[in-house]
Amino acid sequence: MKKKAAKHRILILGASGFLGSAIYKELCPYFNTFGTYCTNNTTLERNKHFFQYNILEDDIYEILDIIRPRIVISALRGDFAAQFIAHKHLTEYVVSEKIKCIFLSSANVFDAYSKYPSYEHDKTLSNSIYGHFKIKIENMLLRLPKKQAAILRLPMVFGSGSPRILEILQNLTEKTPIEIFPNLIMNVTTDTKITQQIHYIINRNKSGVFHLGSNDLVHHDDFIKEIIKTLGNHKPLFKHVYTTNDDRYLAVLPKYNTLPKHLQLVSQEILTELNIS
Ligand SMILES: NC(=O)c1ccc[n+]([C@@H]2O[C@H](COP(=O)([O-])OP(=O)(O)OC[C@H]3O[C@@H](n4cnc5c(N)ncnc54)[C@H](OP(=O)(O)O)[C@@H]3O)[C@@H](O)[C@H]2O)c1
Repeated sequence: MKKKAAKHRILILGASGFLGSAIYKELCPYFNTFGTYCTNNTTLERNKHFFQYNILEDDIYEILDIIRPRIVISALRGDFAAQFIAHKHLTEYVVSEKIKCIFLSSANVFDAYSKYPSYEHDKTLSNSIYGHFKIKIENMLLRLPKKQAAILRLPMVFGSGSPRILEILQNLTEKTPIEIFPNLIMNVTTDTKITQQIHYIINRNKSGVFHLGSNDLVHHDDFIKEIIKTLGNHKPLFKHVYTTNDDRYLAVLPKYNTLPKHLQLVSQEILTELNIS
């Protein structure tokens, strides 16, 4: 048995979700890891490391007081107003207990800038409710002492079990159209890479704003077509969605707060990973 690092009790908010559960699996053998789930789940109910938590009904302090984590990873979805309050209480706890928060943010914090890809120090600006909400939480965390917050901006996440790939597979089986955005230029990542990156950020006690997308850019339509090729011999139907006449960027490129080479990625690695899984 690997010896768990005594210094870290880690709480993952949203540990039953796509990314939360991948992060839980990665960290669990090394740290004393706990997680929350929201939807009733008989398997998780029996797991002493999982707590049922609904941002609409429960007070986050109760869970924090029981678990007393040194690091909280926020991988939640749900009602934005309730999430905002939960994160407000969480940041108060982070300050009072001198612990650290790792927040999964999104490339959408830049969705009002369409002409260029974005870097860590760029000013955030969003036209969407989702992007606005992520910016509000980011700003709250950016007011914490620097060492106590890590903001991870993620682009679209693919991976063999990801909701995006499962949806494509479902479209292929049901012969329904797959949405592609021909004008969208983006970078991408996988759950596998994100979990390794988070593990590194914890081990090395890194903080600040991270852009965890691939180093290269792809057109959404080309990338989805490449993904479909890795999934077998299909005859896909496409629905072309044009949101603007011009090319639009939604990309979070790493430049200033970079991780070691083996933790960076290029989009081809995602296709290779899908090909062999
Ligand atoms: N996936 C991506 O492509 C992507 C890209 C950029 C950023 N992100 C960010 O990464 C984070 C995780 O995303 P994900 O794709 O892993 O999401 P997900 O699979 O939908 O998981 C969301 C988690 O939040 C929990 N949750 C939902 N409603 C809740 C509520 N009312 N109270 C408490 N917990 C609630 C869910 O619990 P139950 O399932 O048990 O109900 C689940 O554990 C999100 O903050 C998202 O914005 C994701």
